[in-house]
Amino acid sequence: MHTLHVNVAGGAYPIHIGAGTVSSHLPELVARTAQELVVIVTNETLLRLYPETLLPALRAVPVRVETEVLRDGEQYKTLESLSRIYDRLMDLHANRKTTLIAFGGGVVGDIAGFAAATFMRGLPVLQVPTTLLAQVDSSVGGKTAVNHRLGKNAIGAFKQPSGVIVDLEFLRTLPERELRAGLCELVKHAIIRDAVLFRDLEAQAKQLLARPVAGDWAFWEDVLHRSVQVKVQVVQEDEREEHIRAILNFGHTLGHLIETHTDYTACLHGEAVGIGMCFAAFASREWGLLPALDFQRVIGVLRPLVSPVTLPALDEAAFSALILHDKKAAQQAVKFIVLKGVGQADRRDKTTPAELWPLFQRFLVEVPGMLSVQG
Ligand SMILES: NC(=O)c1ccc[n+]([C@@H]2O[C@H](COP(=O)([O-])OP(=O)(O)OC[C@H]3O[C@@H](n4cnc5c(N)ncnc54)[C@H](O)[C@@H]3O)[C@@H](O)[C@H]2O)c1
Ligand SMILES: [Zn+2]
Repeated sequence: MHTLHVNVAGGAYPIHIGAGTVSSHLPELVARTAQELVVIVTNETLLRLYPETLLPALRAVPVRVETEVLRDGEQYKTLESLSRIYDRLMDLHANRKTTLIAFGGGVVGDIAGFAAATFMRGLPVLQVPTTLLAQVDSSVGGKTAVNHRLGKNAIGAFKQPSGVIVDLEFLRTLPERELRAGLCELVKHAIIRDAVLFRDLEAQAKQLLARPVAGDWAFWEDVLHRSVQVKVQVVQEDEREEHIRAILNFGHTLGHLIETHTDYTACLHGEAVGIGMCFAAFASREWGLLPALDFQRVIGVLRPLVSPVTLPALDEAAFSALILHDKKAAQQAVKFIVLKGVGQADRRDKTTPAELWPLFQRFLVEVPGMLSVQG
């Protein structure tokens, strides 16, 4: 078991990582945070798989426990779902002593986190992430949001949780593709900031691609905790993404283009980011920033994690519009995250779509088997 400590202006809190952390650490966190009422926010899938998993840990504490169950899916990460949570909290006479527990993947975590940021101007929230992506990425750092019809994560707030419980046992039921998508974000942290972790992931590629097995958690606990540690460090340096936190968006410029141009139907977020990281590494090499050998190593680790994607027809005008639509766009350019070596990401501000377009076309040809474009 590992415990990391986050310490930022928005709050100080522990992240407990290991197998069985729900029973070993949730009671203590609830006792510290909750006073009268705890509301578990989850979704229908988690409720079916884990109907009672949190309850024993909560019985140890004299609080009333209620559950709010959301529909499952990114399409329900909306103001309507948020409104349902507010309605329920009003019905339950929740107040600022109420604690929310976000029990699910990144979607549940983002909605419940935003509810906690806003209801009665803020309630404590504990994050109990159940997907690898949520465990390694979205549950840590305090970004919360719901989607607007015209923009993903368009409505949100910074809300640091009061604690995060990463229990590896949940990974046993996670579908294979979800696991790979989470692995892409896990590997991302190594690529941008931790060359030693990257080397270890390279050396243990076989284990990385094997499903987690009950009772054999040492590898997963080790790599997960080291990856989360990178996120913690970056968030501590720049909680509000004013400068360095942007490196966490490595791979996300092309990743967002892939997601939006396929209406989110072709692949999972992590898979799109996996391809986007390969492109960002390719661009970094072409710009003379990344040594060719490092480029090969990055591709070598990421290739087995991503499935090939075919994009609908795309010309330069559409490509530019999609790149700039990325909400991180400022004027006619984007903050593109580049690599200067394995473990060394940097910002390349003012990167234009006109610079990226020829590189994108060469990427399709020179790094085959990842991305293709129809027509
Ligand atoms: N706040 C942040 O910093 C941040 C960072 C990255 C991503 N995100 C957000 O996270 C969301 C994606 O999160 P996600 O990948 O976890 O998706 P998700 O929450 O949709 O979960 C994926 C699927 O797995 C199911 N599931 C969850 N845990 C399971 C388990 N243990 N066993 C079996 N099935 C399980 C879910 O019900 C869902 O069907 C996106 O909305 C994205 O915007 C937020
Ligand atoms: Zn991401």
